[in-house]
Amino acid sequence: MTHTQLIDNIGELTTNDPSLGAGIGGRISGAAVVIEDNRIAWVGPASQAPAADERFDAAGRALLPGWVDSHTHLVFAGDRTAEFEARMAGESYAAGGINVTVAATRAASDEALAANLDRLVTEARHGGTTTLETKTGYGLTVADEVRSAQIACQIVDAVTFLGAHVVPAEADPVDYLALVTGPMLDAVAPYVTAVDVFCEAGAFDRAASARVLEAAGARGLATRVHGNQLGHGPGVQLAVEHGALSVDHVGFLDDADVAALADSWRGGGHGTVATVLPACDLSTRMPLAPARQLLDAGVTVAIASNGNPGTSYTSSMAFCVATAVLQMRLTIQEAVHAATRGGAIALGMHEDGWLDPRGIAQPRVGVIAEGARADLHLLDAPAATHLAYRPGMPLTAAVWRAGTRIV
Ligand code: NIG
Repeated sequence: MTHTQLIDNIGELTTNDPSLGAGIGGRISGAAVVIEDNRIAWVGPASQAPAADERFDAAGRALLPGWVDSHTHLVFAGDRTAEFEARMAGESYAAGGINVTVAATRAASDEALAANLDRLVTEARHGGTTTLETKTGYGLTVADEVRSAQIACQIVDAVTFLGAHVVPAEADPVDYLALVTGPMLDAVAPYVTAVDVFCEAGAFDRAASARVLEAAGARGLATRVHGNQLGHGPGVQLAVEHGALSVDHVGFLDDADVAALADSWRGGGHGTVATVLPACDLSTRMPLAPARQLLDAGVTVAIASNGNPGTSYTSSMAFCVATAVLQMRLTIQEAVHAATRGGAIALGMHEDGWLDPRGIAQPRVGVIAEGARADLHLLDAPAATHLAYRPGMPLTAAVWRAGTRIV
């Protein structure tokens, strides 16, 4: 027995489906949406909407797809307020604090890690996030990485293995690389869909990062790269060469990096998404990633929160979208698209029935179109533009995830 819900009297509907409406956001006014169980069953003019079991009156407010946050590090324990205060007093971020979180995470019980993750995911959902990726990477032993992945895969939509975050303080770099590309990866693989590496001076160099990506590819796992965060480096080129789903941070790019990313999208295949992390750029006082230049070059861009206790202790995608418009010069439609469909493309969740490496069919997210998972975000505003026009205001009025109202 199916259950249907009609949402009508929508002020502005962002579908992200250009066949349904105007611009990159596929915007429609005077629209209605019908949900059947956990999927979108119908989208179109309200005057033609089919009858449904229940009706929700959007009262002229804007409806968008739920945020797809494709880059977070939320399996952790502890707090780094002192490091943040030192940074605000002029110290620079150099990734040294990762080991502080590693120590706290190793010392925490499974229950404490799960409770903290649950708290942060609930916070994110209250801000309109309906799809969330998280990485491991604060365990850095086989047992701690495995339990991080096991806990995460019960709570979030996609888990990425980041054993190659940094070489832990007690380890030898050569031995650790062998562990992370061998026994640790094998132990974590059943719980994750992708593998990431922090390709940066002080973390993993080009050769070591390439070994991580090759080991992932050999096991049929998708790949991502943390690249060009703290300075110019080989991360972007490496990501494109290895067909990574995304390269994230991308703060320091030269023309060859932008061209390589743009080339990866020519010919209609799945290129490498450039994921920008505006809250992290602000919190670390780094230059904002050149999202405008990337979009103008034809690169698919995602916006994510990078929620973590060191460089970006927020899950507010609305804050990231406002920053992308106000500071990175994206249009509101581009920013909303990057924070919804862009994230879905970065996760490989933009098409129906994608079988992840474990053989599990993933839903299509980041769009409001027939067949997609019914993930919807109603704003307390007549238009999505208010996300940037009224930055910092609590504009989330209601959230549906897989057809269930959760906020
Ligand atoms: O994406 N760049 C590496 N990893 C995280 C930071 C983690 C931390 O400082 O705890 C990031 O910014």
